[in-house]
Amino acid sequence: MKADLLYEGKAKKVFRVQDNDYSLVLSYKNDATAFNGEKKAVFEGKGRYNNLISAAIFTYLEEHGISSHFKKVLNDTEQLVEKTTIIPFEVVVRNIAAGSITRRLGIKEKIRFPSPLVEFYYKDDQLGDPLINDAHALLLSDVTEEEIIQMKQLALQVNNKLHAFFNDIGLELIDFKLEFGRNHTGVIVLSDEISPDTCRLWDTATGEKMDKDVFREGLGDLVGVYDAILKRLEAVK
Ligand code: TMP
Ligand code: ASP
Repeated sequence: MKADLLYEGKAKKVFRVQDNDYSLVLSYKNDATAFNGEKKAVFEGKGRYNNLISAAIFTYLEEHGISSHFKKVLNDTEQLVEKTTIIPFEVVVRNIAAGSITRRLGIKEKIRFPSPLVEFYYKDDQLGDPLINDAHALLLSDVTEEEIIQMKQLALQVNNKLHAFFNDIGLELIDFKLEFGRNHTGVIVLSDEISPDTCRLWDTATGEKMDKDVFREGLGDLVGVYDAILKRLEAVK
């Protein structure tokens, strides 16, 4: 059913589907990149973990009233999704300070925010995905003010659901990144992936980092950590 390659990103390939204008195949690669592609490596098996973990998360969200582009898993590394045109923002929700906000604002790592923060970044590799405000978002895309509000509300709803999802498997959700797309009827839909590549997850008992920071910061065995997450998910199924 997979037809021609539409787009290749750092971690996924996107294929058209034969005789179907409303679906796409996402094919997860084994590549990992960090710091806007400056650090690169290939991890055997990583694509499978991201595919299966992202599918489990989107399925859970659907069961809890939050729909997304996800339709079904096709095989170990591929999933069928609704075709959308990606809105060029990364929407980040932060519960506990870590990563770029500690460097940008001098906030100490591990400080819990009184309420979750929602941030928008402009997806542009050449500019290094800069942090933007609502006025910039209106300037840089076709989204409306109402749609910005809608994306922020959805991001906070996803945060609530994901908190429970990860809490059940002994992980604290520190922060995460979402992307949204517009489907053929013009509606904004949760898109892309949600995986340990796009979330910060700390083991509730030990505080150990169990996400892509293991690769970003060179802390150990990335595939071992992703395998542990999938095993915990399978154990609670
Ligand atoms: P940050 O602290 O580096 O801004 O990252 C915030 C969250 O967003 C973290 O969970 C990792 C995720 N993220 C991505 O998914 N893709 C990216 O390109 C970046 C920079 C962060
Ligand atoms: N995905 C981004 C990149 O390659 C950054 C990151 O996740 O840290 O550059």
